[in-house]
Amino acid sequence: MAKKILIIGACGQIGTELSLKLREMHGNDAVVASDIREGDAELMQSGPFEIADATDAKLIESLIDKYEINEVYLMAAMLSATAEKAPMKAWSLNMDSLFHILNMAKAKKIEKVFWPSSIAVFGPSTPKENTPQSTIMEPTTVYGISKQTGERWCEYFHKKYGVDVRSIRYPGIISYKTLPGGGTTDYAIEIFHEALKKGSYTSFLDKDTALPMMFMDDAIKATVDIMEAPAGDIKVRSSYNLSAMSFTPESLAAEIRKHIPDFSIDYAPDFRQEIADTWPSSIDDSRAREDWGWEHNFDIEKLTTEMLEGIKAHAV
Ligand SMILES: NC(=O)c1ccc[n+]([C@@H]2O[C@H](COP(=O)([O-])OP(=O)(O)OC[C@H]3O[C@@H](n4cnc5c(N)ncnc54)[C@H](O)[C@@H]3O)[C@@H](O)[C@H]2O)c1
Repeated sequence: MAKKILIIGACGQIGTELSLKLREMHGNDAVVASDIREGDAELMQSGPFEIADATDAKLIESLIDKYEINEVYLMAAMLSATAEKAPMKAWSLNMDSLFHILNMAKAKKIEKVFWPSSIAVFGPSTPKENTPQSTIMEPTTVYGISKQTGERWCEYFHKKYGVDVRSIRYPGIISYKTLPGGGTTDYAIEIFHEALKKGSYTSFLDKDTALPMMFMDDAIKATVDIMEAPAGDIKVRSSYNLSAMSFTPESLAAEIRKHIPDFSIDYAPDFRQEIADTWPSSIDDSRAREDWGWEHNFDIEKLTTEMLEGIKAHAV
């Protein structure tokens, strides 16, 4: 059967580029974008779009019927920094939306589901360096608790009901086409914009805070790859560790200085420092590499060049 895809939360940082990539791969009409708000012009004009709230099960089901959807990418969520300001709202959005989709897959209304998890599933008791796939997970943020719980339910629905749900623990995703949605790694995007605009940046994370990061193209590639892989290759049905690079604000600033020699950075850590301190500084993603052939393309050097050139080109 031909693919008919619904993306929920399509206007966000990842959803926008994911929708465009899937439209390029499967045809514009095969990919229905949806969100509670309108997105950028390219997304809105390139294919079908519906305003839809991910927590409204009836409405989502009616879209699945209307467009004969067989694959859902559930990207809507409240992210780490924003969720700390509205814990109960974040919990409802992040959990209810997932249950609706898992139940529709259980009822065989859809065949395949992508649901993203995050490095936020880890906590202060997790080994920080080269964090293993299976390890201690005691997240301390609302966002992390919701993602860890979501992972358990994904695995449960797969084991109990045969639901084909696939998931990745994204690290901090860095891109220039769409603005980030309120995460703890957003500094690594803001820094490029400010470097080009002002030649300086005040980081909300301290200079030696190492976090796992990934350029958007790699994140999209991983998402497409895991969804295209034969079902039998997907052996982890909670969520896969995924990694490309790790860096600190200080090492990213040094990389930017290779392009903008006068660039200066100072540090004013805020509440996001506390969140970052509980997360891994690097990730062991060997299971993703072994099971479905994950390979990344972007390191810190390539990322820096792409970001600076991309922002300059995008601004005109
Ligand atoms: N960006 C990252 O660095 C990162 C890292 C780890 C995991 N993730 C996960 O990837 C997914 C996408 O992240 P993102 O960075 O694109 O987030 P984002 O905040 O940029 O986008 C989320 C989108 O969901 C929409 N949305 C919010 N509430 C909704 C609702 N009730 N119904 C429908 N849509 C709604 C928003 O309008 C927004 O367009 C999320 O699940 C996030 O937790 C992202």
